[in-house]
Amino acid sequence: IRDDPKAVGDYIAQYICKRINEFSPTADKPFVLGLPTGSSPIPTYKTLIKLVNDGKLSFKHVVTFNMDEYVGLPMDHPESYHTFMFREFFSHVDIPPNQVNILDGTVEDLYAECKSYEERIKSYGGIELFLAGIGADGHVAFNEPGSSLASRTRVKTLAYDTILANARFFNNDIEAVPKMALTVGVATVLDSKEVVVVVTGLQKSLALSKAIEGGVNHLWTLSALQMHPWALIVVDEDATSEL
Ligand code: GLP
Repeated sequence: IRDDPKAVGDYIAQYICKRINEFSPTADKPFVLGLPTGSSPIPTYKTLIKLVNDGKLSFKHVVTFNMDEYVGLPMDHPESYHTFMFREFFSHVDIPPNQVNILDGTVEDLYAECKSYEERIKSYGGIELFLAGIGADGHVAFNEPGSSLASRTRVKTLAYDTILANARFFNNDIEAVPKMALTVGVATVLDSKEVVVVVTGLQKSLALSKAIEGGVNHLWTLSALQMHPWALIVVDEDATSEL
């Protein structure tokens, strides 16, 4: 538990920096990092960028896999997760663009896209550390309430609450928010060696308490982390108000 979102971001960024540096990645043995979008990880991204600029961290031998992407939104749309990731992070660090993996929600065969994403993750020997955020309904990536805890990368219809929450990025126009997304599954996240979750703000406090103090439950998909041997949830004071 840290005081505020900035302190949470600093903690996670320092932690990821330490993990990558201890791993000593090389071209043949890259560090495989899973990444989220959303406002919660932005302080983490800011501090990671600073660590790179200060010469304390490099993404030259890091391969990334993003959690999710909207279906049907052109990659260059200002609110696509592609655009978000390059704007908030990738364009500011030394990662070679061909080491960035993000699901493509514009392809005709979405099923094949999801299948090949899982295969690509496997081809690297799995994800070393998956950084995640959560929605107010406890979803991880776009694993909405009711997702199977054994789910893999797939097409998911967004919950109405998520569409409402994300309308703020689309000029509050609910109609403009995509209704479907491609997302890694709960099991894809559980498969990674380590999971780090950022949870900040009062609006996430119910989800946090359900995930930690409730039982493992497919209605609060973050709760699946109770079954993970190496999971870390970093929160601010506000997020703890229901604990
Ligand atoms: C979206 C993303 C999630 C993210 C969530 C929370 O639904 N698919 O991966 O965790 O937003 O976003 P925020 O951090 O802005 O509250």
